[in-house]
Amino acid sequence: MPSPARQAVSTSATLNAQNQQDQKVVIGMIGLGTVGSGVFKIFRDQPEIFFQKIAVKDASKTRNIDDLDLDVLSQDPYAVVRDPETQVVVELMGGAELARELVIEALNNGKHVVTANKELIAKHGPELFDLARQKNVRILFEGAVAGGIPIIMPLKLSLGANRIQEVAGILNGTTNYILTKMTQEGWSFDQALAEAQAKGFAEADPTNDVEGFDVCYKIAVLSLIAFKQVVDPLAIYREGITRITAEDIEHARELGYVIKLIGLAKMGEDGRLDIRVHPMLIPNDHPLSNVQNEFNAIFVKGDAVGDVMFYGRGAGEMPTASAVAADILAIATGLLKGNEPIPSMIIDLATPANLLPVADTQNKYYLRLNTKDKPKVMGHLGNACGDAGVSLEAVMQKGINPDGTAAIVLLTQAVSEKQMNQALETIRQQDSTRDIGCLLRVL
Ligand SMILES: NC(=O)c1ccc[n+]([C@@H]2O[C@H](COP(=O)([O-])OP(=O)(O)OC[C@H]3O[C@@H](n4cnc5c(N)ncnc54)[C@H](OP(=O)(O)O)[C@@H]3O)[C@@H](O)[C@H]2O)c1
Repeated sequence: MPSPARQAVSTSATLNAQNQQDQKVVIGMIGLGTVGSGVFKIFRDQPEIFFQKIAVKDASKTRNIDDLDLDVLSQDPYAVVRDPETQVVVELMGGAELARELVIEALNNGKHVVTANKELIAKHGPELFDLARQKNVRILFEGAVAGGIPIIMPLKLSLGANRIQEVAGILNGTTNYILTKMTQEGWSFDQALAEAQAKGFAEADPTNDVEGFDVCYKIAVLSLIAFKQVVDPLAIYREGITRITAEDIEHARELGYVIKLIGLAKMGEDGRLDIRVHPMLIPNDHPLSNVQNEFNAIFVKGDAVGDVMFYGRGAGEMPTASAVAADILAIATGLLKGNEPIPSMIIDLATPANLLPVADTQNKYYLRLNTKDKPKVMGHLGNACGDAGVSLEAVMQKGINPDGTAAIVLLTQAVSEKQMNQALETIRQQDSTRDIGCLLRVL
């Protein structure tokens, strides 16, 4: 009499063989919202991708899918991961904790997993990759970063011969749309946010996007692949875009830059990872400067390939479904041929990152401040910078405000954040300083 575990293995092997003969792969999906609906539509007329069960929160909800057989719906996501015939579980529900439990159970039950859940992979990726390795099944997540843009497989496979030096991405469509409208129309942040919400590019509560949390998850996932380094997404230095003003965007334009929210990860010669999420001035001749509206792009530097950029739609029903469906196909192709599916996408063991503190990073800085209209103001500013070892590349006085203050913009050369903070502290204490408006880093 075989042991229950042994019996389960032989049963699933028999099922796999039967499905191979029938030329179908049995899919169980959790979530039939924006992305899930797109995935279902892509495979609707492809009998080899067979949806056995789809879990939703509310099965009685009206869905924008023609001819959906309601019998396929279940309100129990555990029924999907426990279904003995299901070979691939597609998790498109979102959130980290329930999704983690379900994916762990699916992997333990010997099922391959496809997900677009950046939060799940950023927070629990290494644990899930480890389990997938032990169970000899795959977990693919191309849709988790930058929606329809292929980046996970290209980083792992196509750029696999490189030592990746830098990844810099415009990874959030909502904030890129807002900053584009502020740049092109001269709108305030609030006006641009309202327009993004009206067009469906921003949620009613936009915090996750505009404060940079979403990009922290995505750059943490990219670091797992590009550098094999585990980074807690909550430990990433983060600033959002809410304090960027139309003035800053105009000053940046005069200096030859645009402002974008960037997720940045750079591997230093000393093995420390410089990873952060904040708005940056991007020079007009950098490829990221031309990424407009809701589009995303990821700029990668490899030691052999040099600079490469990936560009496209970072979210939305069909673009994200394109990535998820490709992952399903990659697994299904192997299963239908009776091969181990896509072994090149087994994710290697990652080590905890040794993070470079933001105070030790090197940047050029843009500083806007308001000063009292007094003689020798420029001299005082120059002294504060000079004493901290901060060299200036450009200084602009932007006229006298109605209240008698003068707006001044400085652009520094590359210095350490510590030096910049030292200069800033002296400037803040100078009698002629009214207030510090905005400090931004330059890419
Ligand atoms: N939307 C995008 O453009 C995009 C882009 C890249 C990645 N992603 C990622 O893709 C995933 C799905 O996003 P989405 O925009 O498609 O979300 P969504 O539209 O909110 O859909 C979520 C789906 O999950 C179902 N669900 C929620 N809780 C559940 C539960 N406890 N049990 C069973 N089903 C449950 C919902 O059921 P009901 O339909 O009954 O409410 C819904 O069908 C997320 O991880 C997201 O971060 C989304």
